[in-house]
Amino acid sequence: TDLSHIRNFSIIAHIDHGKSTLADRLIQRTGGLTDREMSAQVLDNMDIEKERGITIKAQTVRLDYVAKNGETYELNLMDTPGHVDFAYEVSRSLAACEGALLVVDAAQGVEAQTLANVYQSIEHDHEIVPVINKIDLPAAEPEKVKAEIEEVIGLDASEAVLASAKAGIGIDDILEAVVAKIPAPKGDREAPLEAMLVDSWYDPYLGVVILVRVVNGVIKKGQNIKFMIGGTEHLIDRVGCFRPKIEQLGELGPGEIGFITAQIKDISQTRVGDTITTVKNPAKEPLPGFKEVQPVVFCGLFPVDANDFEKLRESISKLRLNDASFSFEMETSAALGFGFRCGFLGLLHLEIIQERLSREYDLDLITTAPSVVYEIHMNDGTVRHLHNPADMPDANHIDYIEEPWIEAVIYCPDEYLGSILKLCQDRRGIQKNLTYVGGRAQVTYELPLNEVVFDFYDRLKSISRGYASFDYHQIGAREGDLVKMSILVNNEPVDALSMIVHRGTAESRGRGMCERLKDLIPRHLFKIPIQAAIGGKVIARETIAAMRKDVTAKCYGGDITRKKKLLEKQKEGKKRMREYGSVQIPQEAFIAALRMG
Ligand code: GTP
Repeated sequence: TDLSHIRNFSIIAHIDHGKSTLADRLIQRTGGLTDREMSAQVLDNMDIEKERGITIKAQTVRLDYVAKNGETYELNLMDTPGHVDFAYEVSRSLAACEGALLVVDAAQGVEAQTLANVYQSIEHDHEIVPVINKIDLPAAEPEKVKAEIEEVIGLDASEAVLASAKAGIGIDDILEAVVAKIPAPKGDREAPLEAMLVDSWYDPYLGVVILVRVVNGVIKKGQNIKFMIGGTEHLIDRVGCFRPKIEQLGELGPGEIGFITAQIKDISQTRVGDTITTVKNPAKEPLPGFKEVQPVVFCGLFPVDANDFEKLRESISKLRLNDASFSFEMETSAALGFGFRCGFLGLLHLEIIQERLSREYDLDLITTAPSVVYEIHMNDGTVRHLHNPADMPDANHIDYIEEPWIEAVIYCPDEYLGSILKLCQDRRGIQKNLTYVGGRAQVTYELPLNEVVFDFYDRLKSISRGYASFDYHQIGAREGDLVKMSILVNNEPVDALSMIVHRGTAESRGRGMCERLKDLIPRHLFKIPIQAAIGGKVIARETIAAMRKDVTAKCYGGDITRKKKLLEKQKEGKKRMREYGSVQIPQEAFIAALRMG
């Protein structure tokens, strides 16, 4: 296709504003699918995506559209992941397009997450076409939303398309606006090949499938290509596009988006943002914007039933085939046995993996408290990256500790602002900005990521009754007064419960954990101290009282050996117990303590 007849665009929308419904409509209108095939939403193709209503992996569909001027256009619609954890993938998808449809719910108006994506899109010099969706709803206020788009985002919304993806209203207007307003891509067919690796995933039949945007040159079947950053070379065996069904093509020229396969087995060779060129006539430099993605949130995943360890290993390895952004390595814990320390791009990413493991692979898992990566500056000048609180070096050898910070933008109705500010304040937040737009507040805070991975998101949702939206990006590491808090049961530290906390919040966190454990650990024949400690210093303490004599008599009878035997039996039985200085803690107590954060 000649460049002037190509349009590459994505859809920016807040969750639930109708992105997938609209994408399906556009596919249907341009003939990619029959009505029957339309029954299921096509772009969200994983079960979990469907159920949670979020898009995880970017997909792209090619639409042939015969415009009112009689000409046929090749429209490449790129679906982008809808969540902050996948910000880098989003940025690469946006870099592959020249424009975007900004879909705003006519009843809900502009939300924080929409804003972050719009700003990114503007940064990529996109032409943005506002679409006000769900105008069929009785609560729709398109004029108000138009004004909001102009006021909050600063975009001209006078020509915003009024649409209902559900009812099929305004679909042609959207397609015409894409053709008229979004610029055609530029590129040089004769130049050496430069194609950006936008995304990749593992397909059981095709192997690793790579989504590319050709910038210059031509990518063809049979070509020997090279990843400029990854360094590996491969022979292309398929070139094509999705309509959304796979269609093989001979080549992709400049400005086009499509896929290639090259008999690659391992997704970790295909890095999002890498530049693909030919071995024979390579480009001089990779395209700008490549970034190595690093996991930022870590936690331990342990099988509840120790016999499931191998199954967990297999399942994690399988998931990893399709997601190079999460990492895992084996970990052992005295409390929880064998498991894995896993790294994720963020909390949602963690939840998705955890949920897929339990649902698709039928595994019952214990997740330890999520932790961020700390930079430990040692007295000898070396720096260690700490992923697991259990590995914290002795405080005497530490010069200082740095922790990752984020900038968060929260958007909420006025009435919840007070409690949200307090929440941010309690979490060591630094307020940067506060503005009001039409009964809603937009507040910007700098926050330590470790306070956010704790339970910030849940708290935010509950105090705002789900009305607050939240978006964040990392802004680098800062020094913090951080300490390792250990939990001791009967004077023995319990590794799975230790965590890195700010000194200022250590006491309340420690007290909370001690109180919970007090309720969870069964009584014994003796008193059991439960303590939270920093180094050698106890900062919180609870005591589990001893069982009363008569109760003991009833339970165990008289002599010590019989008692021991009984306990032994219990241990073999259904409950797995861990012993801490002769205190037996049922596995369920750990799970409950960890689940409550
Ligand atoms: P994510 O995939 O989570 O980003 O959501 P989305 O933006 O793709 O939203 P989706 O298309 O799944 O739509 C969310 C809900 O809004 C669904 O229940 C749709 O049926 C509904 N919806 C979408 N468009 C319209 C519309 O034009 N009118 C009405 N009334 N409902 C709509």
